[in-house]
Amino acid sequence: MSDILKIRRPDDWHLHLRDGAMLEAVVGYTARQFARAIVMPNLADPVTTVSAAIAYRDRILLALPEGRDFMPLMTAYLTDTIDPEELARGHARGVFTAAKLYPANATTNSDKGVTDIAHIHGALERMQAIGMPLLIHGEVTDDTDIFDREAVFIERTLEPLVRDFPALKIVLEHITTAEAAQFIAGAGPNLAATITPHHIHINRNAIFERGIRPHAYCLPVAKREHHRLAVRKAAVSGSPKFFLGTDSAPHARETKEASCGCAGIFNAPFALESYVAAFDEDGALDRFEAFASEHGPRFYGLPLNEATLTLRREPVDVPERLSAAGADIVPFHAGETLGWRLD
Ligand code: DOR
Ligand code: ZN
Repeated sequence: MSDILKIRRPDDWHLHLRDGAMLEAVVGYTARQFARAIVMPNLADPVTTVSAAIAYRDRILLALPEGRDFMPLMTAYLTDTIDPEELARGHARGVFTAAKLYPANATTNSDKGVTDIAHIHGALERMQAIGMPLLIHGEVTDDTDIFDREAVFIERTLEPLVRDFPALKIVLEHITTAEAAQFIAGAGPNLAATITPHHIHINRNAIFERGIRPHAYCLPVAKREHHRLAVRKAAVSGSPKFFLGTDSAPHARETKEASCGCAGIFNAPFALESYVAAFDEDGALDRFEAFASEHGPRFYGLPLNEATLTLRREPVDVPERLSAAGADIVPFHAGETLGWRLD
């Protein structure tokens, strides 16, 4: 069994970096591991224009620790009134790598999201024509049971969308169910999915273990064990339709430990260590590089990274808390020891 894993430098295909002091506090954790990241546009004031995306990208680059080479790939936030021309302009200028569909009120800062897919048909037609990927938060927003929202979204929204836009590139983000894994595996080459570290490690019991555990709460919420196993099987399968996307979503500790705690798991500090532990447990270390560093760029049509990094089979302790932006944040795996260490 190998104790050293040298791989092409990976990318994170789904990341929340926030803004201001929080951005400054968290961006280094991602840049330590990843060469590029798809940056989510759900700021308090969402990123809906090319100029807002350029300004946000500049703030990210300024916040990087000295000497870190890291490329943020920006996304546009789709609204009911988004201008297809603005998307096309941003894509042509290399500013918008993709556009994100948040069903309105599905999650954090999604109140300006899309209330009905019919409102963005023009935008989707344009995106399909220019080869701009659509990234989807796949949950319905009515009073469907929270544990069924992803599966219902696939049936009610995603299947018709794929029929209506057969050439549109689609990434179903942060999949959590057997239904999603199966749907993506059986779909054409335009469809792919990202998988988070938390959804391959925890099931919904983690949210209620001897009390309520706000740091295990995210959206889409973790599901039953058989769903976790199906998602994990997809991650380690070697299929090019599944790739790494952390959905790392920092929230200050007191905003999660609250009567109405925010959704989001902050996994950026030990993301690779977390993923590789799962691949190791499943005897799939030989497929880790493809999942982390190859499937994503191939789907997006971007070059693979040339630099490499090394992970060693050595214990690493995850702190209980990290300080950030004058507050503290509880990272994923807080207080645990992971079996792999990044050089
Ligand atoms: O848990 C989540 N947190 N899910 C999302 O979709 C958004 C994210 C956030 O921005 O905090
Ligand atoms: Zn997200």
